[in-house]
Amino acid sequence: MEGEGRIMRHPVTYALAAVVLFSFLAGNADAGPKFEGRKKCSSCHKSQAKSWKKSSHAKAMNSLKPNKKADAKKKAGLDPAKDYTKDKNCVGCHVDGFGQEGGYTIEDANKFTTGVGCESCHGPGSKFRGIHRKAGAKFEKKGKTTPRKKLAAAGQDFHFVERCSACHLNYEGSGWKGTKEPYTPFTPDVDKKYTFNFDKYVASAKAMHKHYKLPGSFSGEPKFKLHDEFQAEVGGKKSKKSKKSKKKKKKKKSKKSKKYKKSTKFEDVFKNKRR
Ligand code: HEC
Ligand code: HEC
Ligand code: HEC
Ligand code: HEC
Repeated sequence: MEGEGRIMRHPVTYALAAVVLFSFLAGNADAGPKFEGRKKCSSCHKSQAKSWKKSSHAKAMNSLKPNKKADAKKKAGLDPAKDYTKDKNCVGCHVDGFGQEGGYTIEDANKFTTGVGCESCHGPGSKFRGIHRKAGAKFEKKGKTTPRKKLAAAGQDFHFVERCSACHLNYEGSGWKGTKEPYTPFTPDVDKKYTFNFDKYVASAKAMHKHYKLPGSFSGEPKFKLHDEFQAEVGGKKSKKSKKSKKKKKKKKSKKSKKYKKSTKFEDVFKNKRR
């Protein structure tokens, strides 16, 4: 009797297991990383956020407003008086995650995905940001690092080039393989200054954001090819000059000043509450 019961139950168990497994896989396939907006990132990475805010990426939506950048628009054959802020042929490259889950929508514009923000370059953050918090805590408490592989698997980008290209090289004849409409109106044919040079631009702290010293919670590949260079320069710029001479220098060099800034405090990243 007992034996028979067991045999009878098995198919049910397998069927149930199959259903559970299927819904698990199906659920997972749907639940890729989502865009969340820069609010979360910025609350832990205050220094980068502050620096980014000054970049033209941060102000990209303004360029779509009427009478902004009128000369550039004329040159590209656009109407400078027109409001392009709700134009689906424009907004995609001037916001985060347009047409992707959690990303910017014209109907329900979210200010934290307006402009070209953190996730446009670093990848949609819903899955990797939690790993940052945990890895930071683990490193602070036990000195143990977490492999970057985990971040990559959760959707964090360490190469950038494809992401930049999707906006900067999306026009016919750019040589980038992924081109599809709507194209950017600002191509090298309009003006040579719109020629995209990844290696030069990605190293521009003014175009990305300034770089700040990281405590080092993550280790291994994939690591961005200039990561060590950026991090070394941050440390290297630590100057012990008196405040006076610093001030003088600041005045002289004013806006151009330091490309890299000294580290923000450890606390800047670690002292954040669970989120
Ligand atoms: C709860 C706080 C928190 C949030 C939210 C957060 N981070 Fe982080 N992030 C950290 C910590 C801690 C580290 C590890 C710093 C270290 O020790 O090197 C880190 C590391 C990083 C690094 C460096 C990775 C490397 O290669 O070493 C990047 C880039 C980054 N974060 C971007 C982001 C972006 C983009 C978001 C938003 C999607 C985000 N972070 C959200 C805390 C956070
Ligand atoms: C979501 C689209 C998008 C992505 C991704 C993107 N950019 Fe941009 N980028 C823009 C737009 C739009 C502007 C123009 C902003 C404006 O002035 O309105 C711009 C401007 C720039 C500028 C000009 C800055 C200046 O002040 O003249 C540089 C340089 C640049 N991007 C480099 C990069 C690099 C490097 C990457 C990848 C790491 C990248 N961008 C990723 C859309 C994007
Ligand atoms: C495929 C992505 C893409 C689309 C679509 C797009 N843009 Fe942009 N836009 C960019 C990039 C990239 C830049 C930065 C170019 C650079 O400085 O090299 C930019 C820059 C601009 C600028 C600033 C130019 C300057 O010289 O400062 C304006 C204005 C602008 N775009 C308006 C528009 C309008 C209006 C539309 C729709 C008709 C549009 N864009 C559609 C990617 C795009
Ligand atoms: C236009 C692309 C771009 C945008 C937008 C951008 N970043 Fe970055 N970020 C980079 C690049 C490139 C690096 C260098 C990566 C490395 O060293 O591993 C970087 C590095 C970082 C780092 C590592 C430490 C450092 O200072 O170098 C953090 C943390 C970070 N970004 C957070 C942010 C946050 C937060 C935002 C939004 C407020 C943001 N980033 C927006 C391109 C971008």
